[in-house]
Amino acid sequence: MNDLIYKLEEVYKVKPLRAVKSPLRICPLGAHVDHQGGLVTGVAVDSSVNLVYASNDKGFVRVQSLDFPDEEYFSMSNVPEMVPGSWGNYIRGAVLSLKRDYVLKKGITGIISGKLPIGGLSSSAAVTTAYLMAVCDVNNIKLSKIELVKYSHWVETDFIGLKNGILDQSSNILSEKNKLMVMDCHTDQYHLVDLDDRVEDLEFVIVYSGISTGLMGTDYNNRVDECKVASWLLKEYNNESLPRLKDSILRDVDKSIFDRYRDLLPGRFQRRAAHYYTEQERVSQGIKAWSNGDLVTFGKLMNESGNSSVYLYESGCPELITIFNILKNTPGVYGARFSGAGYRGCCIGLINPRDKEKIKKTIDESYPKLHPLYKDVYKVSFAKLDDGARYIEIN
Ligand code: GLA
Repeated sequence: MNDLIYKLEEVYKVKPLRAVKSPLRICPLGAHVDHQGGLVTGVAVDSSVNLVYASNDKGFVRVQSLDFPDEEYFSMSNVPEMVPGSWGNYIRGAVLSLKRDYVLKKGITGIISGKLPIGGLSSSAAVTTAYLMAVCDVNNIKLSKIELVKYSHWVETDFIGLKNGILDQSSNILSEKNKLMVMDCHTDQYHLVDLDDRVEDLEFVIVYSGISTGLMGTDYNNRVDECKVASWLLKEYNNESLPRLKDSILRDVDKSIFDRYRDLLPGRFQRRAAHYYTEQERVSQGIKAWSNGDLVTFGKLMNESGNSSVYLYESGCPELITIFNILKNTPGVYGARFSGAGYRGCCIGLINPRDKEKIKKTIDESYPKLHPLYKDVYKVSFAKLDDGARYIEIN
């Protein structure tokens, strides 16, 4: 944080008011079901996006990033449009999201930065939440955590254009150290599952592939549409009235209906639906395994979830699938899967920290040989679980 404080004072000649620590997230189970109203799990890790800020009483936003060039500088009465691929979109979106319901008099002057590589750990949700919390703070707006999830999610869907669900924002905002956050994306009800005391220690290995494309440039939105079509077809076979396609989700179709009509569903639609229903079963089993401290079963479910993401949901890319396969077969790794959508970014493994060095060595000996293009940029990191986004007082 000190580097950010120093930079704020040096560049903008202002004293910081406060900081926000907004963690990155991983999703151990419950992949690609949030946009279908499914049950997901998430945890926050001890690597975060940090924002140090002061109030800008003239109503301007001025932000620099330690990770990207240029400055975001605009009046909150005239927020610039979304520019595909620009890091500034998230502060623009955060301001617009709040402006739907609040009169914002004050802006922020701030410096932001994140440590782990971008991609798959939801740095976009982390960044957006940090901005929202800072803008709320200077304008004295008090939001509940669920409201914060919704304002943050609006930025991704309505401003950026991704058709995603609330997994990222929920994990980033609602998580608590060493607990598994479980969110029902249909009802917005969530709970935190304690890890059984008998588990002495756990960590996650995070392997960055070297690829950092934004999700908007992937097949992500197509897959969401394929799930919607699958749910539409199942309703049609079952003689139900059809909602608008955009409102049709698999959560509204009981599994017994899928079991009855699955063979009628054409190839890819059948596979997407099969992923959804099996993943829901894995989440339910995973919650029990976590609370019983049964990491072996939890890890096995993660591997199955990873396989389902590859073969039924058909997400992923060759590099991430390579890492997934390496991790699945590495001693000390209970289970592995993509950290998020799987089109780029990172693969994660639930591990016993005792085996860290061996795990890193195994990856270092295989991944760069198989994908030499990324030999200088891939990265192996380890993460502990942490609390969700929070304000940090600056003394
Ligand atoms: C991305 C999206 C999430 C979720 C995951 C896959 O991280 O932003 O909403 O769909 O992929 O589970």
